[in-house]
Amino acid sequence: MREKLNKIARDTNLFLKKFIKKQKKSELITPMKYGLFSGGKKIRSKILIDIGSLFKIDYKSLIIVGSAIECIHAYSLIHDDLPCMDNDTIRRGKPSTHIKFGESTAVLAGNSLLTLAFEILSHKNLNISEKAKIDLIGKISHSSGHLGIAGGQFLDLNYEHKKISKKKVIEMEIKKTGKLFSFACAAPLILKSKGKKEIKKFEKIGADIGLLFQVADDLIDHKGNLIIAGKKTGKDKKKGKATLISLLGYKNTVKYANNLILKINKNLTKYGSNSKNLAKTLDYILYRNK
Ligand code: IPE
Ligand code: IPE
Ligand code: MG
Ligand code: MG
Ligand code: MG
Repeated sequence: MREKLNKIARDTNLFLKKFIKKQKKSELITPMKYGLFSGGKKIRSKILIDIGSLFKIDYKSLIIVGSAIECIHAYSLIHDDLPCMDNDTIRRGKPSTHIKFGESTAVLAGNSLLTLAFEILSHKNLNISEKAKIDLIGKISHSSGHLGIAGGQFLDLNYEHKKISKKKVIEMEIKKTGKLFSFACAAPLILKSKGKKEIKKFEKIGADIGLLFQVADDLIDHKGNLIIAGKKTGKDKKKGKATLISLLGYKNTVKYANNLILKINKNLTKYGSNSKNLAKTLDYILYRNK
């Protein structure tokens, strides 16, 4: 798994470096690159490529769409660490972007990474129909705004130190993390001009994968350590974050995550033997320690 992820990370970073190099220079490029290239597993791109393999989508297009996703992901982490959000000083084993460059620069570098995603998807490098481009941009915007990352992050902060129901915690985790995975799962179908119904089905699968990913992240916060995880752990409890662990306890949360994997795999087996790629990625997501 590590080798496959490393290859995706290399190809994605190479594309992004070339894309940025072709643009005019600006002072924000250094903090943007810091947020983009200082490690990162590229798991969203891996999911995109796994789903792409079910529909025989060419690798190059997937790397370009994945690069846009990774820009939005990197922006969300820069902002997530800000003092007004989770107030975290270490990310991927290094000082967070606002520690290194200052708060206002981190906010603006984050904004610029968010919009870079739309530049990438609308660029001529991505050799797909105009309709597919518009659909991709529409969906990725939806995943990032008030019904996606931003809305979920708002709830995450608003729920601190409150008693929140399981249903609401799950809704919040799906918004802040799941929606971008929904996009990763729907994008290959958009590239294949599939119908609305099938796209919706894959968005649902993506939401479950994203939920699994966030639950695993919460498990790492609960039992992991700074050196391996590359970020401070034990913070969710201190900050009174509403998580499934705070509601169900550690063991039942692991059970919940395993059931999610069963559910996701069940929905995918009919897509043939290539669905094994995704099954392996799901196991990696739950059993990783960073
Ligand atoms: C961390 O995401 C934040 C969450 C949405 C849980 P990742 O664990 O994918 O972060 P990197 O990119 O690999 O550092
Ligand atoms: C972040 O969740 C979700 C985002 C959309 C960025 P966390 O706050 O749990 O992520 P970490 O643990 O700081 O990486
Ligand atoms: Mg957070
Ligand atoms: Mg955080
Ligand atoms: Mg976390």
